[in-house]
This record gives sequence, C-alpha cells and structure tokens, in this order.
Amino acid sequence: MCGIMGYVGSRSAPQVLLEGLKRLEYRGYDSAGIALFLDQHFVLKKSEGRLENVERLFQSESKRLEKATCGIGHTRWATHGKPTTQNAHPHQTGHVVLVHNGIIENYLEIKRDLLSRGHRPNSETDSELFGFLVLESMGSGKSLEAAVRESFAKIRGQCSVVVMSEREPGVVVGVRNGSPLVVARDPQGGVFFASDAQPLLPFSQDVIFLDHGDLAIATDQSLRIVDLQSGEVVHRESSHLEWSLEQIDKAGFPHYMLKEIHEQPGALIDTLNGLVDRDGFEPFTLADQPGVALLRQAKELVLVACGTSWHAALLGKYWLESWAKIPVSVDLASEFRYRNPVIRPGTLVVGISQSGETADTLAVLRDMRSRNIPCLGISNVRRSSISRDTDAVFYTSAGPEIGVAATKTFLAQVLTLLVIAGFLSREHKTLSSAELSRLFEDVIRLPHVLAEGLEHDSEMMKKIEETVNQLTLNGDAASAVKGFFFMGRGYSFPIALEGALKLKEIAYDHAEGYAAGELKHGPIAMLDAAMVAVVLAPRDAWREKTGSNLEEVKARGAKVVGVGESADDQLSHLCDFWIPLPVESRKLDPALLPFLLAPVVQLLSYRRAVLKGTDVDKPRNLAKSVTVE
Ligand code: AGP
Ligand code: GLU
Repeated sequence: MCGIMGYVGSRSAPQVLLEGLKRLEYRGYDSAGIALFLDQHFVLKKSEGRLENVERLFQSESKRLEKATCGIGHTRWATHGKPTTQNAHPHQTGHVVLVHNGIIENYLEIKRDLLSRGHRPNSETDSELFGFLVLESMGSGKSLEAAVRESFAKIRGQCSVVVMSEREPGVVVGVRNGSPLVVARDPQGGVFFASDAQPLLPFSQDVIFLDHGDLAIATDQSLRIVDLQSGEVVHRESSHLEWSLEQIDKAGFPHYMLKEIHEQPGALIDTLNGLVDRDGFEPFTLADQPGVALLRQAKELVLVACGTSWHAALLGKYWLESWAKIPVSVDLASEFRYRNPVIRPGTLVVGISQSGETADTLAVLRDMRSRNIPCLGISNVRRSSISRDTDAVFYTSAGPEIGVAATKTFLAQVLTLLVIAGFLSREHKTLSSAELSRLFEDVIRLPHVLAEGLEHDSEMMKKIEETVNQLTLNGDAASAVKGFFFMGRGYSFPIALEGALKLKEIAYDHAEGYAAGELKHGPIAMLDAAMVAVVLAPRDAWREKTGSNLEEVKARGAKVVGVGESADDQLSHLCDFWIPLPVESRKLDPALLPFLLAPVVQLLSYRRAVLKGTDVDKPRNLAKSVTVE
C-alpha cells in the first residue's frame, strides 16, 4: 500500500508526479502529497483525502511550481497515524525530505532514542523517523547516499523509501527493501521512480525493477544502482513493458472494475496461453519451467492466501483433489503462520497473491523457505516480491488490475489452479487422456461462453441489472433490505464467499457467504423478508440439494435471487429473480461453471455499489495491495 513517485530531469516535476500518482492511487488514497525542489528549497503540498485536493493546492501557484524539475510524491494508506494532512507524506526533517511505503517495525525504539536526543517529530508516522536518522547521519559528514545506507541498517521491516536533501540539489535516492520500487531512465534526460511500472508508461516503456536491497541514486544525467549493504555497484537489466497505455485506461467504461470484469474472457485466454505449452499434443502440458518440477515432486499441497486469492485456493482444492487425487489443504496466510503447522515431507506450499506483495502471504512463504520447504507462487505481477520468497512462480496474465476489488485476477488464478490440476491428473494418471482432452476443449471454449454472457444485451446482463434495480430502487421493499446471504455447494461455495466479499467491499452491505447445507445449522434464523438470499444453483452434481436449500430460504420469507441454467424452469419458478447463465454454458463441463458464476456475483455487487453511489474503484478503508501484516 502507498504509492511512491520520484523524478529528476528536465520535465516539469509537478506534472510528472501528479500524473504518476493518479495511476498509483489504487495503492492507497487516504491522503497525498508532493515535495518539489525549487530555488534551493523544498516546497511541500499535502492534504488529507484524495490526490485532487493536492492538485487544487497547486492551482494558485502553478506558474512558479511548474518550473521545478525535481521532486517526490506519495499517496497514502495509513498504517501509523491517522489519515491527516499532518501525517501525509512527504515528510520534511530539516534539509531532508522523504516518502515511504511499508512499515518500520522497530519505530517505537527509534522514536524513544530520537526523543532522548532532543528530536521532535511532527507526525504520528513511523516514516518520518527515518528522516531524522538520515539528517543525523548527514550531520556527521556523510553524503545522502551513505546516510541512507547507514540509516537503513538501523531499521527493521519491509519498506521502500525515496529521499532528497537540500544539501545535494538534484539528487534523488531510492531504496527497495520489501515493498516494490521501479526506476526508468527518461529518454529526455533524467530518472523516474515509482511503486510500480504503470505510471511510467507514458514516459518510457523500459523500466528497471529494482531488487530487494538495491539503492538507486539518480540525477538528471545519471542513474547508479548499488547494493544497500556493501555500497558496491550492481547491474540491473531493464525490462521492456508489454502493457500498453490503453490497458491501464478505462477504455470508455465508467469504472475500472467494470472494465476489468469485461476483460475476463481475454484474461483467461492470455493466462492459458502463458501457462500451457500449445505446441505439445497432450492437453494440460505446462511449458517447462522450475515450477513444473516442484509440482511433479509434490505429494501434498498446502495453499495459502488472503481475501479473494484465498477463495481461489478454496476452489482449486476441488479440482486438485477430485481430478488429481492429491491431498490439498487451504489456509488463510494470517492464520497459518502463527499456528505452528505440521508440514509432512513431500509437501509443496503454494502462495497465491495477485499483487505478489501481500505481507501475510509473503511472511508464510519466507517462514516455509527458512524451514527448507519448497514453495511455489501464483501471481499476476512479474518481478513482484513473491518471486523472492518462492522457488518458482506461475504468472497469470490478466494484465494490470486497477480496481481495488479483485475480479479478473481472481478468474486468472482460478484457471491457473485448474490447469495445475489438469497437469497433475495427467502426471498421476488419475484421469484418462480422453477425459483430459474433453476437459481441455471445454477450457478453450470457456472464454467464448463467458464473453457471450457479458454481451451487454445478453439475458444474463439484463437480469442482473433488473434484479439489482428492483432490490435497490424499488421504494419500501428496497429500503427494507438489511442483508444478503450468498449460498452454494461444491464449486459454487467459494463463489458464494467471493460474492459476499465483493458486496461488502464495494457496496458496504452486510453480506455472508455460506455453504448452502450449513444454513440450517444456525444462520437460517436470520432469514426474513428483509434478507436477500443469492442462491448459486448451476447444473452440477449439487443442484438438487441446493434446490432444497433454496426452498428452505424461500419458506422463511427471504427474497430469493437464483443463478443457474437458463432453462431450469423448476428452480427459476421458485425464485423472485432468476439470473440465467449464458445458453452455451450447457455445453461446458459442470466443473467449469464457477468461471461463469464469479462474473455474476461481481456484477451484482458492482451494480448495487453504483446505485448506492459508493466509490467503486476505491472503496473506503481498503487498498489494492496490503503490505502490512
Ligand atoms: C479483493 O477484492 C480484496 N481487495 C482483497 O481481499 C485481496 O484479495 C487480498 O488482499 C489479497 O490480495 P493479493 O491477491 O494481492 O495477495
Ligand atoms: N507506515 C507509513 C504510514 O503510515 C506508510 C504506510 C504504507 O506504506 O502503507 O504513513
């Protein structure tokens, strides 16, 4: 969380920084700020709330400030101290100014020492303390570069910082040590820093993903990267970005989330092409890479993740166990780590994180690796931190996801787990070649079936809109809605959990996801006419039993939204609203139906959020990647 930008060169720094921060706001957006180096001094503009508040601060002085060609900026997701202007970054301490992403774990200890030496921090943040350390170090005659290195040795925790000092005009120093940081040379002369590559796209397609423990020293003429500990120069290759500017714009959609929901068929195709060796004749052949060897050796899998990625893991377990017959346990990263889990020999731990930066998941992987347990990652972001904490990573190819609520990265993760299940089924000979070929053909057909459902005039889309409109806008009945239950069995259960999470995240409704069979063990007591039950009942092995559960909730007076096959007259008649899956879904293996149910629950939540007027792409209290435990 938190987005960092930095620039030194010949362009107008406020423009570069503001434009870049806009593309980083998904990482945090409770306050923001910019520091410019102008006329030998720093000018700071900070505000609580959104970046546009900072932009407004520039308006009256824009002529003067636009002359600055060196500066740093930040958009924050508070960890230490409230989201106030005072706590917003950049933080200036004497002649030093900095922006920081992550946490300083030993900040209390450092603060106590600083106070005892007479320093008086202005904010409640951990970040500001780093500025005092740099200031003290430069006070003893060190250069900015040396002072940053010395100060870093005194702090613990995963973070990145970008620092400037009035004593060294035109020098910007950045460290990656846990949180991400990339740099790019400006073709017009100079260097950009950013928390991820997207904001650099308008300026340069070639970026350098710094490694952990790298310190970059930039001026308008040069870029040097050294090892944080030894100070020795290290060489880092630049990567040519495949992402185009269009991919990170809204492309005519009112929200990124809606655009990303519609990009799911493409995300499935690209992910499949990235993982599977299409030159081979066998279905589910993985392109040869280190991850494949790890899978071959595994006797048991432990999947760890958080939030939506955890739901992907729960879904993956069904295919992995029923097709490949490999034992799988699924755990929340934040719980797994502190439980002293027993890991049997032959276990492969798989960490799933679309961002590749989630602190809880990374902490598990680090811990496992320190115990010599093999670890595999699944992530959507190449070169993200997960690549450091695993033996190999499978990358999904969903493209950049800007909306804070995960959508297309979820389907891409789920597909990756399905492909792994197919691969292991072939390796373990638990499915016949004929079965595998049939499944693989359906996997190839899947994106097209989903695209059909997502057509704006499809029955599925029309019914989603109609249902949410009725539940949200229809006078007294709508205002009486006090909560939602999402329920399903088998493959639909993780989707029910995901539906409830999406609705909570973006529409701020109270929502619960349940295994449909569990409702009668307690939660059914909550049902009455003010509750909405979303029942996922596609044509699969569980449909009949889910149908009985649907009857149970209906009998308690809840409003029932059913989701299932278009021609399921029996169930659709029992429901107040029926959302049909695309007609072509009938040709798919039932195991693939969660790929169609997920977009339905995403769209139900999206539409509800839009009608309620929430900030869909940047819901309150959240951030895209959660880099604190
Ligand atoms: C998803 O909509 C959420 N924003 C959140 O639950 C997310 O899935 C979780 O924080 C894990 O993120 P990761 O996949 O980047 O590790
Ligand atoms: N710890 C810093 C703060 O609270 C940075 C937060 C972050 O990167 O999440 O301001």
